[in-house]
Amino acid sequence: MRRARLAVLTALALLASACNGDNEPVPAAEYGERLFSDAKLSESQFNSFSCATCHSTTPTAPAERMDAGYTLYDSAFRKRWWGGYETRLLDAVNFCYVNFMRGVEPLSEDSPQSRALYEYLVSISPNQDAQPLPMTVVKNAADVPRGDRTRGQEVYRAACQNCHGELHTGAGRLTESASLLPEVTEDYDRVFPGVPHSLVVIEKVRHGQFFRVGGNMPPYSVEALSDADLGALLTYLDL
Ligand code: HEC
Ligand code: HEC
Repeated sequence: MRRARLAVLTALALLASACNGDNEPVPAAEYGERLFSDAKLSESQFNSFSCATCHSTTPTAPAERMDAGYTLYDSAFRKRWWGGYETRLLDAVNFCYVNFMRGVEPLSEDSPQSRALYEYLVSISPNQDAQPLPMTVVKNAADVPRGDRTRGQEVYRAACQNCHGELHTGAGRLTESASLLPEVTEDYDRVFPGVPHSLVVIEKVRHGQFFRVGGNMPPYSVEALSDADLGALLTYLDL
């Protein structure tokens, strides 16, 4: 039954597939793979994120990456996504597309883009019985014990540096809009009087743009970043 439905979807996606420069049709999964790492998938001129900014696609995430989002290997058939909050794959994708990539309208089910992304995700999802993954959101940001500075540097490189660039200078950052760390905290006494700087950073990391924090940075669940690693990171940031 599922196989039959997949075959129909594959046929549709092939029909919807894009053309390359020589007007040879490109298979949908291949087009989807390209879209996956293309920030221009979003029509917003203010977006510099692609799906690949926050998701790896290998069976386990590479050691040098600690992303806010899970690897999308085996993601297509999980049945529930976003820790159970989303029950349709397209809704799970659109949540990212609209909130992080500033997509103005969610991708529609029959758009060439969403079909191609679907085919790509299916192509990296060999397990049709893959189970949903947990996602524990820290509701009330609280202080965490500080950790080891060297570990903190590793965490910074794996989790933050791609977007924020090097500490203090921002060198190599993905977008100018990503604040300088830790210098952004110099304003906090004015903006958040009486709140420890570290707590503002903890809240940002745990909540991203949600819980009225604002912006378009993704939130880190406990599974994505443990309190121990967050504590090490704060030591590295001198907070
Ligand atoms: C700025 C970071 C960011 C970007 C960009 C982003 N995502 Fe996500 N995505 C997340 C986070 C955080 C989650 C929640 C944790 C999780 O479930 O992986 C998530 C969840 C998901 C999930 C659910 C995974 C699961 O099993 O729970 C899918 C599927 C997904 N994203 C697909 C995409 C696709 C496709 C794109 C590009 C159109 C994209 N994401 C762009 C951060 C991002
Ligand atoms: C996918 C890209 C991305 C990643 C990964 C990322 N950030 Fe950000 N971050 C941003 C962007 C863009 C902004 C500015 C917009 C906003 O506030 O969301 C920002 C803003 C911030 C701010 C400033 C909030 C304020 O006071 O205005 C802090 C603090 C911060 N990030 C810390 C971190 C830390 C620590 C990490 C690693 C655990 C991290 N970020 C990972 C993109 C990212």
